[in-house]
Amino acid sequence: MDYDLLRAQLCGLAEADGWYVPLMANAAALLYDALADVNWAGFYLLRGDRLVLGPFQGKVACIHIPLGKGVCGTAALRDETQLVPDVHAFPGHIACDSASNAEIVVPIHKGGRVVAVLDIDSPVPNRFSEADRAGLEAFVKALEMNMTLDD
Ligand code: SME
Repeated sequence: MDYDLLRAQLCGLAEADGWYVPLMANAAALLYDALADVNWAGFYLLRGDRLVLGPFQGKVACIHIPLGKGVCGTAALRDETQLVPDVHAFPGHIACDSASNAEIVVPIHKGGRVVAVLDIDSPVPNRFSEADRAGLEAFVKALEMNMTLDD
């Protein structure tokens, strides 16, 4: 996957508007379209002690995830990327789409703290590699630099 190109496309989109709603919406569309074997790509935003569903592409998903629960809540609480080769082996995994078998979740920061996560699901076990982790973490860095939140 050419993550340099994806990052450049994201920065181009951010030039028009850096507000997190259109930027996350287009980022989800970009990733869902460009990555092979992906059945869900999108964002959860941290509000209080739980994550709330943000812009995404894929099937209808769960709306609230408590901090520390599931793959997304674990990534947000620990502030570390979760690369999960087999979601069924992940304690507390929240199954939104039964087709999902592998998942990667990357924390997103603003002002030095976690404000959201990027979540990508795949039906293919072991879908995400260390190269995907590096590429998606760099993608998220570009998002962090270009994104503005509500005041
Ligand atoms: N599987 C996630 C929940 C979100 S859906 O994948 C869209 C989790 O365990 O956090």
